[in-house]
Formats: sequence, C-alpha cells, structure tokens
Amino acid sequence: MRIDVVTIFPEYLAPLRTALLGKAIERGLLDIAVHDLRDWTYDVHRAVDDSPYGGGPGMVMKPQVWGEALDAVCPSDARLIVPTPAGRPFTQRMAHEFAAERSLVFACGRYEGIDQRVIADAERRMRVDEVSIGDYVLVGGEVAVLTMVEAVARLLPGVLGNPVSAEQDSFSDGLLEGPSYTRPEVWRELPVPDVLRSGNHAAVDRWRRDRALERTYRRRPDLLAALPTDTLDKHDRAV
Ligand code: ADE
Repeated sequence: MRIDVVTIFPEYLAPLRTALLGKAIERGLLDIAVHDLRDWTYDVHRAVDDSPYGGGPGMVMKPQVWGEALDAVCPSDARLIVPTPAGRPFTQRMAHEFAAERSLVFACGRYEGIDQRVIADAERRMRVDEVSIGDYVLVGGEVAVLTMVEAVARLLPGVLGNPVSAEQDSFSDGLLEGPSYTRPEVWRELPVPDVLRSGNHAAVDRWRRDRALERTYRRRPDLLAALPTDTLDKHDRAV
C-alpha cells in the first residue's frame, strides 16, 4: 500500500517510521511519503491560510495551495482522507475498507480547516472521505492521521506477526474484547480465573464470550444495541 500525507508539520509524522510501521516499511509492505504543504506556496511568507469569508475567529487554509499539492501528490486511484472533527466517525469497519485500497492520501488541515472547495474539487476525480477520530477537537489532523494509519497498517497482510490477533480484535464481532492474563498464576494475591487454566477450550471460548458481552454491556451499550438481532444466541441473552 502507498500512503501520502500532506501537512505543514512533516516532523509531526515521524512516528510513522517507528516500531510496527517502520518494520512494515522496511519489509516493503508499506510505502509512506510525507510532503510539506508549503512546497506549493510561491510568496515570501509561504502563506497557507487566510481569513474566513463571512468573518469569525481563526484562519482557513487556502484552496490554491491545497489544489496544487493534491494535483501533484494524488495518484489516479487515490482515496483522499481529510481528518476533521466535522467528519464521519472513524471505525474498525472503515479501517478494513481503507486497508483494501492501493493508495491513501491524507490531507492534514490546521486552523479552522481547509477551504471546502478543495474537497468539492477533489471529489470531481477521486473518492474523498472527511473523517473524525472522536468527539473532541485536536489542533490539527496530524495525530488523527497517525491513529488511522496505525489502525489500517496492522490489517495489511504480513504486518502483524500473528494474523489471528487482528481477527479477534475488539469490534471484529461487534463486541469489546474481554480481559487477558499471563503468568504467574497468582500475582499480588490476585488469581487468574480457573477456567483459563482448565484446558477446556469450549469452556474458555464461552467464558471469553461472556466477559466480552458483560464488558460491552457496561462500557458501550450503544454497540450492543447496534448488533444485528441474530448475532446473540440464547446463552448470550442470559449474560
Ligand atoms: N482534527 C481536529 N480534531 C480532529 C478529530 N477529532 N478527528 C480528526 N481530525 C481532527
């Protein structure tokens, strides 16, 4: 997969080259390029923003600069992703969808956002998604890009050591994942639940499913409510 990021703070994206993502790049599974938006300015101040039409606080990023940057950076099959708190919520489902693309381009806005005509113009030739990573406001899209790229990259074939980890993630079955334990059997007088040491795989699966249901019910009742009705069996309903 090829990922391009356009930003006024290229150094902010340095973590894309460390740890799991760095390994994926080294192994040729992922190709990431970070571009400085100011490379497409021509004035001495290298200005990327201007005051908003209609007034109000803050500044808006200029369409001419973004237009040229995206013309230069986006391949013909690009899917353009614009992080913004005003976007559709980023989900695991979206991460899977993005992971199936050949080219993702992320356009990081700062200030009060990017002139909306940049998105309207890009939509004339490519798929564009305005996406939010949560109901809070960051200073810019860079951290949202780090979040989304990490969520997408770990789904690419060969990136995770054990592909089953991705299959058993929280959200993969619409539920939060339950608790995990490792050695020792008792730590600070807290024992590991007996069933996990029983060797009874059916009982372990049932226990894990119950804990996932319980946790989802307590922490994210909205997820339970969104499950298709036939995904819960009789035992599930009793939990
Ligand atoms: N930019 C600022 N806040 C954001 C958010 N919550 N999600 C995505 N991009 C953002």
